[in-house]
Amino acid sequence: MTEHTSVAIAAVMPAAGIGKRMRSDVPKQYLQLHGKTILEHSVARLQAVPAVSQIWLALAADDPYFADTALAHSNIIRVKGGAERMHSVLNALQFIDEHQYPWVLVHDAARPLVRSSDIEHLIQRCLAVEQGGILACRVRDTMKRGELQVSETVSREHLWHALTPQFFPTALLRAALKDAITAGVHVTDEASAMEWAGHNVLLVEGHSDNIKITQPADLALAAFYLEQIV
Ligand code: C5P
Repeated sequence: MTEHTSVAIAAVMPAAGIGKRMRSDVPKQYLQLHGKTILEHSVARLQAVPAVSQIWLALAADDPYFADTALAHSNIIRVKGGAERMHSVLNALQFIDEHQYPWVLVHDAARPLVRSSDIEHLIQRCLAVEQGGILACRVRDTMKRGELQVSETVSREHLWHALTPQFFPTALLRAALKDAITAGVHVTDEASAMEWAGHNVLLVEGHSDNIKITQPADLALAAFYLEQIV
């Protein structure tokens, strides 16, 4: 990285979900991928970025799996997760000193394939303009809205998939999430809270193989991608 390398960056990883759609006994972040848990892969991706100085991991209160991972003996800071992703992220943010860490990356535990180069690109682009942003990829398919039948075709022009990491000034993100939760607004990513609070969010194009493990078939796909991605 260039002149921005000196900024110490905090990272939050929400990992307190149960991953219902995976239909597995074990939460998806603890499923094995090439001999390691998905969580371990995801953490390693963040650790590979030199500017990331500390990681806060939000775990379910009764998580019996973490202790068996190699991460149990690392210097990762564990915090309690919440009812939904936004609560887990906010819980972690409460522990981060924004003077020490003015910027924070938030990355899903269920995205083990993100390239370090994409994370560094996101950081550089955002710091260069002092504005938060997200990794995203352009929508490829024709988009339809509807339930059983198509009610309309939505133009895919200007449509993006929101990925993670998402990168924001720590204090602004904490305030936006707190205010959104207080107002009863349901947000499924950090950018939504920032948009709701009136902030601009930069779209930084990343690789579309940065998939979120969601359904059983995603595991085989992730195993395949892992062999291709360095
Ligand atoms: O379920 P979904 O794939 O949307 O979850 C995205 C991320 O948020 C996962 O890493 C999951 O572990 C995390 N999460 C959380 N706390 C919750 C629900 C989800 O940390 N209550």
